[in-house]
Amino acid sequence: MIGRHVNLRQAGRNYVGLCPFHSEKTPSFTVNPEKRFFYCFGCGAGGSAINFIMRFNNLSFTEAVVQLAEESGIPVPQLSQGESRERELRERLMAINQLAARYYYSMLRAAPGAQARRYLAERGISPVLARTFYLGYAPGGWDNLVKFLEGQNASLEDAAAAGLISQGQRGYVDRFRDRIIFPICDHLGRFIGFGGRIISDGHPKYLNTTETPVFHKGRTVYGLNWTKDAIKEANRAVIVEGYTDLISLYSKGVRNVAASLGTAFTSAHARLLGRFTEHVTIAFDGDQAGQQATMRSMQLLSEAGLNVRVARLAPGQDPDGFARSHTEEDVQAWLDQAQPLVEYLISHALAQHNVETREGKLAASHEVISVLAGIEHAVERDEYIRYAAGKLQVHQDSLRADVNKHRAGNTGPRPDSHIKSRNRHTIERVRIPTVSHGELVERDLLRWILHQPELLDDFTAQGFSAEDFSTQEYRHLVSLLARGEWDELGASTAGDILDLDRPTGKWQEYVNQFQAVIWKRRLSKIEEKLSSLENERKGFDIHMELYVLLKEYYDLRRTVFFSKEKHAARPGGRGEYA
Ligand code: UTP
Ligand code: MN
Repeated sequence: MIGRHVNLRQAGRNYVGLCPFHSEKTPSFTVNPEKRFFYCFGCGAGGSAINFIMRFNNLSFTEAVVQLAEESGIPVPQLSQGESRERELRERLMAINQLAARYYYSMLRAAPGAQARRYLAERGISPVLARTFYLGYAPGGWDNLVKFLEGQNASLEDAAAAGLISQGQRGYVDRFRDRIIFPICDHLGRFIGFGGRIISDGHPKYLNTTETPVFHKGRTVYGLNWTKDAIKEANRAVIVEGYTDLISLYSKGVRNVAASLGTAFTSAHARLLGRFTEHVTIAFDGDQAGQQATMRSMQLLSEAGLNVRVARLAPGQDPDGFARSHTEEDVQAWLDQAQPLVEYLISHALAQHNVETREGKLAASHEVISVLAGIEHAVERDEYIRYAAGKLQVHQDSLRADVNKHRAGNTGPRPDSHIKSRNRHTIERVRIPTVSHGELVERDLLRWILHQPELLDDFTAQGFSAEDFSTQEYRHLVSLLARGEWDELGASTAGDILDLDRPTGKWQEYVNQFQAVIWKRRLSKIEEKLSSLENERKGFDIHMELYVLLKEYYDLRRTVFFSKEKHAARPGGRGEYA
């Protein structure tokens, strides 16, 4: 598998080649085909095939598993019919988006795109940049794309579902007309949507793809397909609001940049970014709206465990304008000077009020106090108390006293706690005890056995034992029955069960259901184990365990799938005490 991505030659039992994860001239990248792992003596990268795919293609664990399984012809965990239909639809929509992107791309470079090309040139977007970001042009007129798609024998229904065209009174019409097109890709480079900018002025300035099965604004971060490697490398993402901000910064050498597309940040955005880095620099527009967006976004990003800095701009400026009017060095210096979150909040509070007046000073102090009270670490808090006291020109001790009072007055999570440590504990939910489906199935099985003790032999013959039950009581009871012994605990458990009637239906159906419960438990155990391994993905010796678990996982899923087809039947009459 790895040999498809790296040039390898045999060296004894191993294969060696140049490591794809760091640059080197002599091969230190080793693959052991027997034990099915790779290791680089140069950079220490190592792991299973899954780890390789994850790193090589920048995929999450699950994405890597699916890709690997597909490549090796292993049946991917069985999707239900609904799920696989959904997946096929998504693939078709991305394919038609790609077709449309190619059309827009060629139109920008053809005769109808002349004005659009001039507009881009005026904005400082060179043909090379336009190619990098696959910019295009949707010609004026009502149905240019519709006609093109028809000519390609593409499905107009799919195109409508992808949000490219819509049903009008006289047939389908294009959604994007006479607009510059910014294709939007997911982080894997698949075409999921578009942004269309009006040429010169007009409303709306940008038209975006509406929500479709492949485009979810709340989950999409623009640009990652081009910039995620740079983000990983720098261990920082610069976040801007707009397409043009991203492109201009990129052209000034800031490659670790991503755009929120003017929407409010969601925790899904934060999680996606968090896969590539722990550090973000927010660089939003300098206007009021930009500042508000900064406030909201940094709160969310910081809550998601990311370390936030803010690069400020003067009112009326945006990263696009700033980048275009400054040198690479100036742009870098501006980003390097970005303020840590707390500092930004403090200076923001100070800037909102005129601290020369008494009221202003008081109002600013209140804001500053609530910011300071939100800092969890005492040392850090103290550091900033000193900083803020200097800025406010108040006594450190009185500020500290106010902050402490504020903290004491707020028990539990503070609503104004912008600064949270990375591992916050979520409030524990009260669990309502319920009898699970699994327990009901176990109890039914015991009902059968207690009413008809000879069934225990059949049960054992089918490969089950006391250990397969989830509760200590049931395990105890079954092992007593198997040994033909009896005790008080066993008697009381049996008594409870014998209070219930003899079960209805067929014994074997109950056994099948019991089997299904055991498989499910095992599957979720493996899933749990896999995800905990995923979190410590560095280790070199976990790969074998991972591999073994995965194999078991697939085998089990297959077994469950085929057995479901075989016995679709379910025992009836089980609802009476559920
Ligand atoms: P801006 O208005 O700051 O856009 O909105 P911009 O990128 O600076 O645009 P230019 O430089 O004038 O071309 C930021 C982002 O908000 C979204 C777009 O994603 C835009 O890039 N937006 C803005 C819309 O979706 N619709 C709009 O009408 C305006
Ligand atoms: Mn802007």
